[in-house]
Amino acid sequence: MSADNAPVGAVLDGRRIVLAVSGGIASYKAVELCRLLVDAGAHVIPVLTDDAQRFVGALTFSALASEPACTNLFSGSDGGEPIPHTRLGQSADLIMVVPATAKIIGKYAAGISDDLLSATLLATRAPVLMAPAMHTEMWEHAAVQENIATLCRRGVHIVGPESGRLAGGDIGQGRLAGLDRIVEAASELLARGRDLAGLRVLVTAGGTREAIDPVRFVGNRSSGKMGYAVAAVAAQRGASVTLVTTTAAAVTSGMQIIRVETAQEMHQAVMSQFDAVDVVVMAAAVADFRPKAVAFEKLKKNDGVPEIVLEPTEDILAELGACKVGQVLVGFAAETDNLAEHAADKMLRKHVDLMVANDVSATDAGFEVDTNRALLLDSSGAREETPLITKMALAGVIWDRVAERLGRTELIKEQH
Ligand code: CTP
Repeated sequence: MSADNAPVGAVLDGRRIVLAVSGGIASYKAVELCRLLVDAGAHVIPVLTDDAQRFVGALTFSALASEPACTNLFSGSDGGEPIPHTRLGQSADLIMVVPATAKIIGKYAAGISDDLLSATLLATRAPVLMAPAMHTEMWEHAAVQENIATLCRRGVHIVGPESGRLAGGDIGQGRLAGLDRIVEAASELLARGRDLAGLRVLVTAGGTREAIDPVRFVGNRSSGKMGYAVAAVAAQRGASVTLVTTTAAAVTSGMQIIRVETAQEMHQAVMSQFDAVDVVVMAAAVADFRPKAVAFEKLKKNDGVPEIVLEPTEDILAELGACKVGQVLVGFAAETDNLAEHAADKMLRKHVDLMVANDVSATDAGFEVDTNRALLLDSSGAREETPLITKMALAGVIWDRVAERLGRTELIKEQH
């Protein structure tokens, strides 16, 4: 959104881009990309793997880029810079891996850092854009697809691949995305960049568990993926993030994590932070009821079928809506019928500013999957339906709307 009207050159001008080139036939296209980025004013530092240098020489990149190409993690042993990966990672505004082979995708997903390029990827908090290129069979292999899904979940931006002519004359999916598309994606990432800088946000994720006895609980099917995506995108865009989560899943560094299990613990954690934040996104599926009494010992089958009496939990979002003093509140509505009607009703009832509603009866959206399709309702009356998109992409749309509400989009446009 924020990049909408910004000319490409203006956004790239003066920005530090690490152009990470891994080794495949498409490596030669990174040479042209390097030139395009430099022409647009970017400060480009090429980092080449050994395999990349089998296809294109480091000298070519050194001649075109803003700094000589970097190729060696251990250059310090030759009297060069002792730890180049941390300087590269820490000082970059953006890292672009073009082309990204199955090998670097796998290493990055697994956290392996055995050369300069892979170490730089682990040593950065800058946004990372990857443009995969490989043969169709490799691209479609379950291992590659799972690695791509992992990286997407962690906030890596994947551009392409496209369908077309491949090495050896084959035709199919796996061709490097067009350079104009890659440059456009880089510009968008940089323009949006840190539009949430200085904002303090609190995100809840996962489904709460309400104990019946020491081994059993009342729970729900929320995986926490949507909340994690919302938190990851906020952190990427510069917000200071507190994530209150029921899951043990790892997060990108730089967030404050509060792990909870029950609705009561989540209530306590959220309320204790509320005064200190600007935005709350309640992506968690909070149990509406909990067993009134929790058995201290495991309920035994031989004692007969237990009667479990439930009592209501705290409605965290409703409480936040009743006591907010300027904070932006984002709620989720998981519905199986009358989506718009129920969501609008919850928005009014809980004094929510932005409601993200989704139909959880669909198999490709809602609980447990990596994709979602949502209806966004704004308290000002705006209404927007998204197609089926990744949860990371939906998180981006949510933050675009919050940024608009807070006037941050205008701020970014002025800066460019
Ligand atoms: N929510 C909350 N506390 C609760 C229940 C829900 O803060 N005890 C929040 C959820 O995190 C979500 C929003 O309220 O952002 C709507 O949750 P949902 O379960 O869809 O709605 P409910 O209010 O529980 O209504 P119903 O169960 O009747 O659909």
